[in-house]
Amino acid sequence: MDRIIVTGGAGYIGSHVCKALAERNLEPVAVDDLRTGRREAVRWGAFEQVAVENSDGLTQVIRRHKPVAAIHLAGLIMAGESVAKPLEYHQANVGGMLGLLQAMRATGLETLVFSSTASVYGIPAICPVTEAAPLAPVNPYGASKAICERLLDDCAAAGWLRPQALRYFNACGADDSGHIGEMHHPETHLIPLTIRAALEDGHVLAVHGNDYDTADGTGIRDYVHVSDIAEAHLLALDHLWAGKPGQPMNLGTGTGFSVRQVIAEVERQTGCPVKMTEGPRRPGDTPVLVADAQLARRVLGWTPRRSDLPTMVGSACAWHGRNGWPSE
Ligand SMILES: NC(=O)c1ccc[n+]([C@@H]2O[C@H](COP(=O)([O-])OP(=O)(O)OC[C@H]3O[C@@H](n4cnc5c(N)ncnc54)[C@H](O)[C@@H]3O)[C@@H](O)[C@H]2O)c1
Repeated sequence: MDRIIVTGGAGYIGSHVCKALAERNLEPVAVDDLRTGRREAVRWGAFEQVAVENSDGLTQVIRRHKPVAAIHLAGLIMAGESVAKPLEYHQANVGGMLGLLQAMRATGLETLVFSSTASVYGIPAICPVTEAAPLAPVNPYGASKAICERLLDDCAAAGWLRPQALRYFNACGADDSGHIGEMHHPETHLIPLTIRAALEDGHVLAVHGNDYDTADGTGIRDYVHVSDIAEAHLLALDHLWAGKPGQPMNLGTGTGFSVRQVIAEVERQTGCPVKMTEGPRRPGDTPVLVADAQLARRVLGWTPRRSDLPTMVGSACAWHGRNGWPSE
């Protein structure tokens, strides 16, 4: 069975990627230092506890498992936190990318799919945002991912790397099995925060901004089911293995949902009111951030099949109903 290195394989999206690989008869090798991930999320294939900045350690992992490709999801993910901790974010995200690329170069591993983000666009002038929009990140998290994309371009131009960057919009939801799902600590993502504010005493959703120029005044984002995101990685591997050139691609649906729409769906599915406060806009937040996702559809043949709001919210409710919440 062909093996694939999955950095960040103990994390939320990485664990779903590992499952999708296993379902395709590919063997994931999860590489993760567990700084935010959970060992119990590694349920398919081997586990190697290594930091991605450690290129010698990664080189040994690659020599031992002889993978045919790598999928790089490891990294720090909180845009707000990155403003206070720029060095930590660049160390983990840029340093981690350098560590992985050095190990790939040392071992002759050429094929790489990379988790990038909509945050590379910053506050785009035109929405839905296409991949042609300028990269103008407004925080160190987005900047670190933009630098990683540049590193991929430079190594591709040098002739030894075949990279494909996928710019995810807002990942959410959980696998149908109920065995893996979102368990970030602290949680900053809207759907789990809203579900918790509906179901648990003492948890209140803070809505940042209710006076945007949108239909209901709240911000609109492009949510994508995590299993649809995982599926795109398999299509990206197929694309690269077919000898086709990689290029950055948005992973979104092109349909945005507002904060109030998410709240209404959570209330409908849980039968409980969402406890909330409404406050001012946060600096750096854009009213609407929605992908033009035509490129991934056209080039990869990617079709998000689970990214309607009831399915995304329903699967997240089922996951938290079964697994609870991260310990405080
Ligand atoms: N969740 C989203 O909505 C979203 C959106 C856009 C992009 N992304 C990107 O997707 C990737 C995965 O996100 P996630 O939500 O699954 O996050 P996550 O925190 O659940 O997973 C990240 C994993 O990487 C590991 N990790 C972090 N730094 C590491 C390092 N230096 N060495 C080894 N392991 C390390 C963590 O332990 C964790 O298991 C990230 O790169 C993130 O930037 C996520």
